[in-house]
Amino acid sequence: MRSLIDILELTTQEIDELIDKANDIIANPAKYSEKCRGKKLATLFFEPSTRTRLSFEAAMYELGGNVLGFSEAQSSSSAKGESVADTIRTVSCYADIIAMRHPKEGAPLVATMKSRVPIINAGDGGHNHPTQTLTDLLTIKRKKGRLNNFTIGFCGDLKFGRTVHSLIGALSRYENIKIILISPDELRVPEYIKEEVLDKKNIEYREVSSLDEVMPELDILYMTRVQKERFFNEADYLRLKDSYILTPEKLFSAKADLSILHPLPRVNEISVAVDDDPRACYFDQVLNGKYVRMALIMKLLGVR
Ligand code: CP
Repeated sequence: MRSLIDILELTTQEIDELIDKANDIIANPAKYSEKCRGKKLATLFFEPSTRTRLSFEAAMYELGGNVLGFSEAQSSSSAKGESVADTIRTVSCYADIIAMRHPKEGAPLVATMKSRVPIINAGDGGHNHPTQTLTDLLTIKRKKGRLNNFTIGFCGDLKFGRTVHSLIGALSRYENIKIILISPDELRVPEYIKEEVLDKKNIEYREVSSLDEVMPELDILYMTRVQKERFFNEADYLRLKDSYILTPEKLFSAKADLSILHPLPRVNEISVAVDDDPRACYFDQVLNGKYVRMALIMKLLGVR
């Protein structure tokens, strides 16, 4: 039985196969409409979500399967003090596969130790978000036609932004990726990512605080929200939340074929005036997320 907690549990070949499968689903959706008939997905969301939960649910419905679960801890017995371990032992009696989001780093990993069915990490605290990474990779592949030979700028909250941590890990496997980390000093990428991924894999990267300064170099700009829910001190959040606001004017110096990604939700960091720019890809990401999760559900359930 296979779960997915960290994107690095998948080999590069497996990631490429998932992307190919998602592209085939996009081209031939009818071929997949009965693949999970009789199977049940449980979505256990102890933390809010729009895209991840609903795309998992839409994915399972489009595969002909069914969905059960909860969208907030308060509507489960977690509110009465039940442990994650007991919740998982219970739900794995009812479902064939579980997608779980939790505010505590490592909670989905603990869940795998108690579950009788595959667990998919749908985001654990400020740690990882592997299915967002699959979404991002599919989007990059569809936009650029490749997953190598580009310069990507990650901008915003690189400390708490779990989608950034997972995507850096995945991209470190591909050739000639240059990374520019754009953030205020307080929101830099954690040291463990630099030491265990960037340095270990000899990835070319640098840390800067100015987006304007590096904009002309970028093939991909990955914007992120400042993660209010992870701050201990509201004053710090208020001081840092509008560190970067992408506007049409800021894109004057960008490449004509730049791809602008954002995992969403956004707050202020991308002006809505950018949405009509052909370089904006963040709503493509939303749609791609459903297809790549269909591919992942099939893989973990062993559906051919
Ligand atoms: N990108 C993402 O994880 O969005 P949600 O928090 O809405 O699921």
